[in-house]
Amino acid sequence: MLGNFSYCNPTKLYFGKKSLNYLNDELSKYGKNVVLIYGGGSIKKNGIYDAVTALLKKNNKTVAEISGVMPNPTVAKLHEGIEIARAHKADLLLAVGGGSVCDYSKAVSVSVHCEEEPWEKYFVRFEEPSCEIVPVGCVLTMVGTGSEMNAGSVITNTETHQKIAHVFADEKIMPRFTILNPEYTFTLPKYQMVSGIYDIFNHICEQYFSDEDDNTSDYISEGLMRSVIHSSRIAVQNPLDYEARSNLMWTATWALNTLIDKGKHTDWMVHMLGQAVGGYTDATHGMTLSAVSLPYYRHILPYAIPKFKRFAVNVWNINAEGKATEQVAQEGLSAMEDWMREIGVVLHLAELGVTEDMLESIADVTLILKGGYHVPNRAEIIEILKESL
Ligand code: NZQ
Ligand code: ZN
Repeated sequence: MLGNFSYCNPTKLYFGKKSLNYLNDELSKYGKNVVLIYGGGSIKKNGIYDAVTALLKKNNKTVAEISGVMPNPTVAKLHEGIEIARAHKADLLLAVGGGSVCDYSKAVSVSVHCEEEPWEKYFVRFEEPSCEIVPVGCVLTMVGTGSEMNAGSVITNTETHQKIAHVFADEKIMPRFTILNPEYTFTLPKYQMVSGIYDIFNHICEQYFSDEDDNTSDYISEGLMRSVIHSSRIAVQNPLDYEARSNLMWTATWALNTLIDKGKHTDWMVHMLGQAVGGYTDATHGMTLSAVSLPYYRHILPYAIPKFKRFAVNVWNINAEGKATEQVAQEGLSAMEDWMREIGVVLHLAELGVTEDMLESIADVTLILKGGYHVPNRAEIIEILKESL
C-alpha cells in the first residue's frame, strides 16, 4: 500500500542537442565565482570544455577549476576540492562529467562551509549538512548513475577500502539544474556505455524487487526496464543512434531520481556488494553490479517467486502458459543473463581483479540492508561473492 510520503525534486532539466544554450540563463542566477569541476580530461578532447568555458567567459564569471576527479572519487581528492572552492569563495559549483564528477561536486558543496571532517560527518555518521550549501549545476557526459537529478554522493576511502553512498535527505543538495545533451555521450568508450546501461537497469531492479503490494512504481519500473533493454540493443550495435542514446539518458535520470522508490522499501543489496567490491578494486561501478547480480538474484528468487514471475512476463515477455511459477521466474533471469551477455557487461568478479582471498575482506565492508525480499547474513554474502567469481 502506498504509505504517506512527500515528493519534491527541484532539479531543472534541459534536454536535447541545444540544451547547453540554457547554461546562459542558469549562470545569470548565481554570483560571479564559479568553480568548474571535471574529470581526467575527456571533456577537453571532445570539445565540451571549450563550449562550457566560452559560456562562462561570456557571462563574465571568475572561474577556478578542480580537475582530475577520478572515477570513484576519493576522500583525499574531496579535501583538495574543498580548499579550492573555499579559496575561490564559490557561488556555484559547475560539474561537467559523469556520476563521479557530479557526486564529488555535491560532497564539496556540503563541505565548503563546514568545519567538520566530511568523510566522518557525511559518510560514516550519515549526518545532514548543518552549514550553508553551495549550489551545484551539472552538465552530464556519462549516463547511468542518476546523480544529475538526485541527492546521492558516493565517496571512496582508499585507506579503509570503504566506498560509501550518502543519499542526502535535503533536496537542496540535488543539482539546481542539469544539462542533458545525448550527443555528449557519443564519445564514451563502449565499456563505459554498457557499464552505465547496466547501472540504470540495476537501479530499477533495486527498487522493483521489494514489497508485494500493487504499487504504481512497479508499473513505471517495468516500462523503464523495457526501454533500457530495447535502446541498449540499438546503442550497442550503433553507438551514434541518437534516439537510443537519448532514451537511455532520459531513462537513467528517471531510474534514480526518487520517483520509483515511492511507497517501496527497496533492496539495494546488489549496490552494497558492488560498492564493497569497488572499495577493494576501484573497478567501474556498473561492472561491479553486473558481476554480482545474477548470483544475488538467483539467491533471493526462492523468497519472491511471484515477483520474479511478474518480472519474467512483464519485462522479458516470457510465455507463462502451462508452466510452473518458479520455472517462469527462472526463465526471466535466464533472459536477463542472455541480454547481459549480448550487451557485453562483466559477469565475473575475477575480470575486475577480485581473487578468492579477498572475499572475506569484501564481505567485511558489505553493508547489509533490510528492505529486500531476504536479508542475507555474512555466510550468504560470502556464498554470493564466491558464485560471482
Ligand atoms: O574522467 P574523464 O576523463 O572525464 O573520463 C570519464 C571516466 O573515466 C569517462 N567519461 C565520462 N564522460 C565521457 C567519458 N569519456 C568519453 N566521453 C565522455 N562523454 O567515463 C569514465 C567514468 O566516469 P564516471 O563519472 O566515473 O562514471 P559514472 O557516471 O558511472 O559514475 C560512477 C560513480 O557514481 C557513483 C558510483 O559509485 C561511482 O563512484 N554512483 C552514484 C550514484 C548517485 N549519485 O545516486 C548512484 C550510483 O549507483 C553510483 O553508486
Ligand atoms: Zn548504481
